[in-house]
Amino acid sequence: MVSTAPPIQDQQHSRSRRARWSWAWVALSSLTIAGYFVGQYAQGTLDSLAHREVGLAANYGFRAWPIQVAFYLHITFAGLALALGPWQFATRLRTRGPRIHRGIGRAYLISVAIGSVAALVMSMFNSVGLNGFFGFGTLAVLWGWTAWRGYRAVRQRDFANHQAWMIRNFALTYAAVTLRSWFGVLILAQIPFVHGDDPFTTILREAYTPLPFLCWLPNIVIAELIIRRRGLPGLRTTPVTPRPPWGFVSDQPN
Ligand code: HEM
Repeated sequence: MVSTAPPIQDQQHSRSRRARWSWAWVALSSLTIAGYFVGQYAQGTLDSLAHREVGLAANYGFRAWPIQVAFYLHITFAGLALALGPWQFATRLRTRGPRIHRGIGRAYLISVAIGSVAALVMSMFNSVGLNGFFGFGTLAVLWGWTAWRGYRAVRQRDFANHQAWMIRNFALTYAAVTLRSWFGVLILAQIPFVHGDDPFTTILREAYTPLPFLCWLPNIVIAELIIRRRGLPGLRTTPVTPRPPWGFVSDQPN
């Protein structure tokens, strides 16, 4: 019988073309969100932006100065992490310019460290109360923790684990993009159904409510699927005990 399956070379070609398109999409969406949403806060003080109802300025414009500092640190460094992250997954750049990869990697990890601590502070003063505190707060902790695991793995020259942890970490950074995408979808989905005195405010409030969790939970599932497809180490809660090569572990004390 004659096989109708495409030759292996064709399959590899179409897989790498798909990977390039996915990367381009992730890079473009990351740069757009980082540029637009961070950029809007460069057009005036939080106070003046609050009067023009720009983003979340109204929630932070009247806060004490340490919280406003956390806000600016967060949007600057989280924005930088989002803009830098995609370049770390460009295979050509990683293999041909390992020094550039290391340099961008350091800047990325420092940005995540500052961005996540600032996000944890902001989660206590967020605009949606307890839901935001638990959703954004958990995200902030996981964001910092996965970056730490990725850094520790590369210091131990464990490159497979480094890749896996950095995929998890960037999936969380990308929550900034998925949050705004879900927000748009949930606003559009409600338009035919909401009536009343102030439908616009109701639509915005209802759309924002699930976002503190919805912006990152699906991302970590997708990250685990990517890690598994690439044959990288899965998630472990306990450290791996190295086994002797002959597969026999003695229970006798030495
Ligand atoms: C991944 C971990 C992140 C956490 C835990 C986090 C947390 C937060 C929190 C708690 C707020 C305030 C929300 C509210 O008051 O309702 C916020 C706002 C904001 N974050 Fe993040 N964030 C993260 C990533 C990012 C990234 C990667 C960017 C890059 C663009 C970013 C940009 C912003 C901006 C611009 C705001 C102001 C709100 C707006 O105008 O949309 N964040 N973030």
